[in-house]
Amino acid sequence: MIVFSGSSCASLGRKIAQDKGLQLGEAKIERFPDGEVYLRLETPVKGEECVLVQSTLGNDNLVELMLFLDMLRDQGASKIHAVVPYFGYARQDKTFNSGEALSAKTTLKTILSLSDSVTSINCHFLDREGVFKFHDLEIKNLDAFPLLAKYFKEQLKRPMLIAPDKGSLEYAKNAAEIIGCEFDFLQKKRLSGEKVEIQTKELDVKGKDTLILDDMISTGGTIIEAAKLLRSQGAASVNAGCVHGVFSQGTQKVASAVDRLVCTDTIERDISKVSVAELIRKSLR
Ligand code: R5P
Repeated sequence: MIVFSGSSCASLGRKIAQDKGLQLGEAKIERFPDGEVYLRLETPVKGEECVLVQSTLGNDNLVELMLFLDMLRDQGASKIHAVVPYFGYARQDKTFNSGEALSAKTTLKTILSLSDSVTSINCHFLDREGVFKFHDLEIKNLDAFPLLAKYFKEQLKRPMLIAPDKGSLEYAKNAAEIIGCEFDFLQKKRLSGEKVEIQTKELDVKGKDTLILDDMISTGGTIIEAAKLLRSQGAASVNAGCVHGVFSQGTQKVASAVDRLVCTDTIERDISKVSVAELIRKSLR
């Protein structure tokens, strides 16, 4: 099996391929002067089963993924598995207002039309690990919360896990079991893309090393509001972890609101202290 990585997952792809039975494939990924993506395969794939690892944060990464998958098919790959650790557009999984595009479905449909299988990690429209149908389109979802839980278990003395909203409840409950700590959740109301309101709720967090785990941090609004609440209720420390470090406004503002901030490498960041490489490798075996 040959593992290729797109430009958003260069080091993750290398880590995944460090396993016997897997080969790291090479491709040239450049830009034309107008910004369009230029791709050229450097490893022959005729008759080979191939994996492409590429997160789709931003439109450019999505286009690169599409071109790459089709290039693998054109060059004769026998099977093509798209591994999309961070699945972009997953939050537009409903028509919240009439007339809206169902972007999560369109994206999945497009990727599936160019590949034989799609695997993602904590895909926003799925709330557990497994193989699912979303609008009749098959997608495998892996769960990286246990990896975050194991990381923080080593770091925190008196942990208490807090899910910032009901969406992360299932994942967070399981993570609390791994850490062996208490667990609670917050009631979140989204006011706009950037603003959220966390409803005040009495939490017994006095003296606790609170840990907020979320599938993703985007603007940071959720974590910042949750951190304020936890501090005001006497938490000894506020720690935050997420699978996908989208950080649409950079990490600085969020990092300064908490004591510790960590994400996985589904999106490669300076604070990607937890790798999903083994999780993906296992699922390929
Ligand atoms: C929402 O349902 C998600 O689980 C995250 O809580 C959300 O996407 C985080 O967004 P932000 O960082 O912009 O508050």
